Amino acid sequence: MTERTRCDRTAAWSALRVARAGAASDIDLRKAFDVDAGRFEAFSQQAPHVFADLSKNLIDARIEHGLLQLARECGVAGHRDAMFAGAAINNTEQRAVRHVLLRTPRPAAGASMEPDLALVHETLDAMLAYAEQVRGDPAITDVVNIGIGGSDLGPQMAVRALDAFAQAGKRLHFVSNVDGHELDATLRDLTPAGTVFLIASKTFTTIETMTNAASAKRWFEAQGGGDIARHFCALTTNVEAANRFGITTTFGFWDWVGGRYSLWSAIGLPIAIAIGADGFRAFLAGAHEMDEHFRTAPLERNLPVRLALIDIWYRNFRGFTSRSIAPYHSALARWPAYLQQLEMESNGKRVDAQGETLPFDTAPVLWGEPGTNGQHAYFQQLHQGTDVVPVEFVAVKTPRHTLEGHHDLLLANALAQAQALMVGQADPGGHRHFTGNRPSTFLLLDELAPGNLGALIAMQEHRVFVSGSIWGINSFDQWGVELGKVLAKAIAPRLASGDVAGLDGSTAGLLRRLRTKP
Ligand code: F6P
Repeated sequence: MTERTRCDRTAAWSALRVARAGAASDIDLRKAFDVDAGRFEAFSQQAPHVFADLSKNLIDARIEHGLLQLARECGVAGHRDAMFAGAAINNTEQRAVRHVLLRTPRPAAGASMEPDLALVHETLDAMLAYAEQVRGDPAITDVVNIGIGGSDLGPQMAVRALDAFAQAGKRLHFVSNVDGHELDATLRDLTPAGTVFLIASKTFTTIETMTNAASAKRWFEAQGGGDIARHFCALTTNVEAANRFGITTTFGFWDWVGGRYSLWSAIGLPIAIAIGADGFRAFLAGAHEMDEHFRTAPLERNLPVRLALIDIWYRNFRGFTSRSIAPYHSALARWPAYLQQLEMESNGKRVDAQGETLPFDTAPVLWGEPGTNGQHAYFQQLHQGTDVVPVEFVAVKTPRHTLEGHHDLLLANALAQAQALMVGQADPGGHRHFTGNRPSTFLLLDELAPGNLGALIAMQEHRVFVSGSIWGINSFDQWGVELGKVLAKAIAPRLASGDVAGLDGSTAGLLRRLRTKP
């Protein structure tokens, strides 16, 4: 593995601390624009499919320069190259991190292809053929994806985002929660003959997914469904377990694809069913363009790097604890939830890749709702609350509907919110006082189409990679989810038996209460 220097041990980190301590780092955005007519140009950039305006962030050229120096001293470029080369950078699980391979095009005819890439294309072709088969089957009206975490959030977000490209007459459903209400409500309107169940689980052991899959299979058989091979399909790295479960139609992927990075693999089958093989290939191609940008652009013109460096500045030097995600497009309703897993499961860690406790803060809390809805709920606090919360807007230039007036109004609101956060309003001492100088990033897509979405997602993946790399974290494991899983397994039989021996007082008290008859 390539040598990485942890951020707090670099000269650049010390220099940034000194810079932060000086008054010059207290940037007033309004003044910054007044004195620098070129600020928008300097702090915005067009990357493949994504335009980013970074100019309303609390940085200047000197700070960005220092942050870029930090990226260099932390060996971000070497770490990135190691990922692209297939090194086992997921050191705690001794795995390579190769989701970029899932969107790497097939080499020209006659050129050699590495074995993993050949497997990727073989599976992709098979999965897309299956997707077309389901699309072409008029008897199939409903597709139910049963999966959770990375086996749910990515496909669900993308299917919704690309709704305008979806085939009419096929309904896609997503069941993730072990709460039976969700599956029950979904099954209510289905018939076995009209339904395909996709059981999506990298490990094929996740208790929620296995429980839902077993119930779906029982429902299917009880309703007279017979042909499991036609109506159940597994998307997994653990094909043997899927076979043991009784599913013979399977599409595989590999341990070098992390769950939250898996929507490009067989886990993306719901997306392919929704938008078709060509659409899915365009989605992969958009992501690949962003991969190439991330792999080759100099750090100072590398959008994922620039975004991550602002994240580092805010978290470690300004002490901001969260980022609000504001997609101004109703089809991006699941964008905040998707980013939550991507960033918080990747970088929400308090030890470095070697297990050493980190003396600085890592991933912020990500949260949000689509605009304009958020404006009528929590934007009050964003404008006038005591905490500064950087906001990340996403807007789309061209809508897919023809309703008059709506889109300009939507865009005007996005622009106005970003403007209001920055410019504020004077009313000394009064309730109408907005301090302003509140930072935001504005991401702009020409349209919400498969290629743009692919690029936008890949950009976020790489941004998370860069901040994790600077913090010295292994962004590709998730040990923090294990303890709760183990304890839930131990508690489940106690709910039936009532045994509270050895439990802490609160858990025992709640368990007893849950068992009391109403
Ligand atoms: O519990 C967390 C997690 O392991 C995620 O990382 C993953 O995306 C999710 O569970 C689902 O896992 P699987 O795809 O193996 O069912």
